[in-house]
Amino acid sequence: MKNNFKAKYGPWAIVTGGSAGIGKSYATELAGIGLNVALIGRNQVNLEKAKAEIIANHSVEVRIISADLNTEEGIVRVIEQTSDLEVGLLINNAGNAFVHSFLGVAEDKLTSNLTLNLIAPLKLTHHLGRKMEIRGGGGVIFLSSMAGYQGISKMSTYSAEKAFILTLGESLYFELKKQGIDVMVVSPGATDTDLGRNTAGMDNSKLPIPYMSPEILVRKSFARFGDSPSMIPGFMNNLTAFIGKRVLSRKSNSALWSSIIGRAAA
Ligand SMILES: NC(=O)c1ccc[n+]([C@@H]2O[C@H](COP(=O)([O-])OP(=O)(O)OC[C@H]3O[C@@H](n4cnc5c(N)ncnc54)[C@H](OP(=O)(O)O)[C@@H]3O)[C@@H](O)[C@H]2O)c1
Repeated sequence: MKNNFKAKYGPWAIVTGGSAGIGKSYATELAGIGLNVALIGRNQVNLEKAKAEIIANHSVEVRIISADLNTEEGIVRVIEQTSDLEVGLLINNAGNAFVHSFLGVAEDKLTSNLTLNLIAPLKLTHHLGRKMEIRGGGGVIFLSSMAGYQGISKMSTYSAEKAFILTLGESLYFELKKQGIDVMVVSPGATDTDLGRNTAGMDNSKLPIPYMSPEILVRKSFARFGDSPSMIPGFMNNLTAFIGKRVLSRKSNSALWSSIIGRAAA
């Protein structure tokens, strides 16, 4: 992590999905560095619990905003309720996944996570990026997934949504450098969170992969922030990605992932 982290990305960070899992680990780590954090999630009780935990351990301000980022109203609420804050860092973390047969679900189910997984990060980055440009810089981290590196059957919508985020973030890494805004996409493998352990439509115990702790993931990502357009945390995850990209053909890699997810699909 850079020595001037707090000066560059403070005084406030917004963490979507900051009440649980990877987002809560980001918020806690940032509070440890001395940044004030605004936590976004739907469940008010979980937000209050996360706030109490952070305040008990760190001398920072914590603002909680209950908003459903799968709706336009939720996105607007976050923008309105953080308008008085000087935000130097946005962590676009909130996301959801489910495993499903493409033809087996109703059409509206296929689009059910688009606002949360695509539109909210896009709009929040546009809005806050403009404010960061005016203040002279800042940072944005996007959470994609290793699932975004290839097509995966039974995970078609999620892998496509995460591929969008990966490409968006890598593009903005180069485009926003001029404005002093660091952008990085983090693509985790299996991570020890509620979503990672209990993905809807999947028996996660059948996945032949080790789980990474969200705290380690966050530290590994901050170590690369500012220098890399994208990163995959962890040696095993990087080895898997290396084999997928350099050893297997694109078709074989996609077939391998489809077979692994297919076996775990409930
Ligand atoms: N865990 C993994 O194995 C893994 C692997 C690769 C990528 N990722 C990505 O990492 C990110 C975080 O995942 P996670 O495992 O930490 O998930 P998680 O444990 O399920 O936590 C999700 C967080 O997002 C919030 N959230 C969910 N839906 C929301 C909505 N509609 N509006 C606002 N907030 C919402 C949740 O709070 P509420 O429920 O109260 O809203 C919670 O704070 C996601 O983008 C995920 O795709 C995770």
